[in-house]
Amino acid sequence: MRSDQGNDRTGVREVKRQPTVLVGVDLPEYFGGMRGGEADLGELGRLADTAGGEVVGEITQKRDRPDPATFIGKGKLEELQAVADHTRARLVVFDNELSPAQSRNIERELNESRDESNGVSVLDRTELILDIFARHARTSQARMQVELAQLQYMLPRLRKLWSHLERQAGGIGTRGPGETQLETDRRLVGRRISRLKRELVEVAGNRRVQARRRQEHFTAALIGYTNAGKSTLMRAITQADVLVADRLFATLDATTRRVDVDERHFFLLSDTVGFIRRLPHHLVESFHATLQEVAEADLLLHVVDASSSDPDHQIASVNSVLAEIVPGDRPLLMVFNKIDLLDAESRDAFINRYRMEYPDSLFVSALAGEGPEAVRSALTNALLQKERVFRLQMPLHRMDLVAVFHRTASVLAEEHDVEHCRVTVRMREEELSRLRSTEPDLQILD
Ligand code: GTP
Repeated sequence: MRSDQGNDRTGVREVKRQPTVLVGVDLPEYFGGMRGGEADLGELGRLADTAGGEVVGEITQKRDRPDPATFIGKGKLEELQAVADHTRARLVVFDNELSPAQSRNIERELNESRDESNGVSVLDRTELILDIFARHARTSQARMQVELAQLQYMLPRLRKLWSHLERQAGGIGTRGPGETQLETDRRLVGRRISRLKRELVEVAGNRRVQARRRQEHFTAALIGYTNAGKSTLMRAITQADVLVADRLFATLDATTRRVDVDERHFFLLSDTVGFIRRLPHHLVESFHATLQEVAEADLLLHVVDASSSDPDHQIASVNSVLAEIVPGDRPLLMVFNKIDLLDAESRDAFINRYRMEYPDSLFVSALAGEGPEAVRSALTNALLQKERVFRLQMPLHRMDLVAVFHRTASVLAEEHDVEHCRVTVRMREEELSRLRSTEPDLQILD
């Protein structure tokens, strides 16, 4: 049923990918183990692939507790060394979180018979994810968020001074009396963390202003497991409607688009960062400002890759990250994407099964252009459902306001007397509140 067609994330293979060996240790939950078998190393493999690695080997082990010195047992470590040497691996990635001492010890063992030119590095899952985020961070806010997450993760693991921090802190004279090198390092990193946090609070303030403006309009956010097809769906939905020179929203970040439904209605659609199983906590914390788009949306579209080998697992992962960002229930629509990758028989079975569980769900292929129209209609319906009917009154000399309602709302009735004009309109309460706040002449009758 599964096919990897269309799942190549970049479309372009890098010329030289780093040979990578994956290691997964099945542990009781108490030790942070949540592995559900092979499916999880599959995810780690895709993460390694995204980071520029080529998976050349996999090693798994079941343990009751991690080895304090080397995480895996002595025998397994020897096996890992043999596989790494045989495959000429340059990178070993653990699906679990390693202590600094563990990764140092493993790295030392693996490099025993290698010289510096072909050394092997050891990363854990969090470090790999942080590396991917660092590569993908485009805006200055995203870069700051990633740096903050990296520093927070590294602070307790700090072993030696980073030269760029030394330069930023002025170098000479930065060390206080009697401090060891490590204390100085920690202090410098701590200072950088505080500075980044301060700057991010400032950025978050600016975003709140934008968000308030957005809240006056109907907003939907695409969420979903990484690679589910959110961006493709976004493109399919907005294609004809992306306002290239949209002045009003020119300050919105690049991932929010305005979609016009008809002459009077539009919604804003945001694409968000992909979710993964056990998204590192530091990352969720650091990306709080960006993920606010999710918290503030009127409707969430949860995009699921229907061709995934385990959609339920991905849905559960997204839900658990979502619960961290927005506590409580949110209006949510499930969108099962990539149905073109299922053959006719499995497609019917799939649709029957998930329609039972999620009665309003949609089944689409964003790539083949099957179904984005249904998603648009669902969004339009949700938008229209949020509208209410209001009777409004304004002085006769404010016919310009009546014209505004004709332009931005559905005017159901209009009447005049010698002093006033009264209109009955259908619109969103938030839009009306916005108008009211700047137009004291406007009176709401009922
Ligand atoms: P992240 O940025 O990791 O969160 O990914 P995303 O959810 O935005 O996914 P994206 O839109 O980048 O799509 C991932 C891959 O799936 C791309 O190679 C797309 O071409 C492919 N894809 C998206 N939708 C479909 C679909 O309906 N059918 C098929 N066959 N492939 C699709």
